[in-house]
Amino acid sequence: MKLLVCGGAGFIGSTFVRQRLREFGDEVVVLDKLTYAGREENFHDIREEPGFRFLRGAIEDPEAVGEAIGVHRPEAIVNFAAETHVDRSIAEPDAFVKTHALGTHVLLEAAREWGLRYVQVSTDEVYGSIEEGTFTEDSPLRPSSPYSATKTGADLLVQSYFHTYALGVVICRGSNNYGPYQYPEKLIPLMILNAIHGDGLPVYGDGMQVRNWIHCTDFAAAIGYVLEHGRAGEVYNAGGPDEQANIDVVKRIVELTGADESQIEHVTDRPGHDRRYSLSSEKVRTLGWTPKVRFQEGLEETVAWYRENKWWWDPIRSGDYREYYEQQYGRALSS
Ligand code: NAD
Ligand code: TYD
Repeated sequence: MKLLVCGGAGFIGSTFVRQRLREFGDEVVVLDKLTYAGREENFHDIREEPGFRFLRGAIEDPEAVGEAIGVHRPEAIVNFAAETHVDRSIAEPDAFVKTHALGTHVLLEAAREWGLRYVQVSTDEVYGSIEEGTFTEDSPLRPSSPYSATKTGADLLVQSYFHTYALGVVICRGSNNYGPYQYPEKLIPLMILNAIHGDGLPVYGDGMQVRNWIHCTDFAAAIGYVLEHGRAGEVYNAGGPDEQANIDVVKRIVELTGADESQIEHVTDRPGHDRRYSLSSEKVRTLGWTPKVRFQEGLEETVAWYRENKWWWDPIRSGDYREYYEQQYGRALSS
């Protein structure tokens, strides 16, 4: 296939691009604005592959989108482009509204004009928090942060293009991802890097919030199944095989890095913090998908990857991220 992958320079997008180029022989054109989270380094090992092209541009820019499609003529758009950090959405929601509402609209209009299949990459956070049981695709949408609310808005707009214009859209909602190339603002890489550097490990509130962890290669594969086999107009959840309370994740990272449990600090909780996410993946399994990586082994590999790839995270940790960290956590990183 020939794909236009929007937001392909980010964590999960670049994992998907690598998988499609190497395992499926697809041609991939990446369109990415390169925000703080979008990094050309994420392509270091695939940029020379013959099927790979990179274009810098924003999804809310109709000219950039039109040119990418007009010149490269993809068969489908897969949209990963998003602002993705809940804490940043609480501090500064503007970019979330722009990218998720306006950006998704521009892409849908382009898909309609050119008659393209469209995959929207979405999140379990659109369902809100669940104390017991798991969310199915029919669960009510009750987002609680500006991040999840704007992602929900985008999902609803995508579905309206199926109902109104019969556009061939599908939505794939993933649970919390982890793995290599994840920007260190997120729980797992933040804790790994702080543990290695001897910095404090800031656990929000009591740390008993539960997340349903999925390895990024498993989520990327689920998106591939939905792209190839999903029925137009449908939503498919892709949740990981394991759930863990945050405090247990952090304690395991302490063990794996040889850090000290005294580095763990319980800090002020995130406003409106969702207690638990859990996704049922029965529907996407009917397409043939199954998750391959269990959390304990995936976490061990992820810790090893961050240990071995200082070249990737050092420029981030010594750049703008330091300022973000100080503002968010009210203290500086040690080094
Ligand atoms: P990320 O923050 O690592 O990457 C986002 C990418 O989108 C970056 O490359 C960024 O430059 C690009 N981007 C942002 N705004 C853009 C715009 N206006 N135009 C073009 N490009 C833009 O995010 P990620 O963790 O890889 O998430 C990718 C997608 O998966 C998102 O849609 C997110 O909502 C969804 N998702 C993420 C998770 C998770 O745990 N990380 C879980 C479920 C779903
Ligand atoms: P995060 O990686 O931000 O993902 P999300 O909010 O999308 O689930 O956070 C995962 C969990 O970890 C969430 O319950 C918030 C918590 N958390 C902390 O306790 N401390 C932190 O410094 C961060 C970034 C997250």
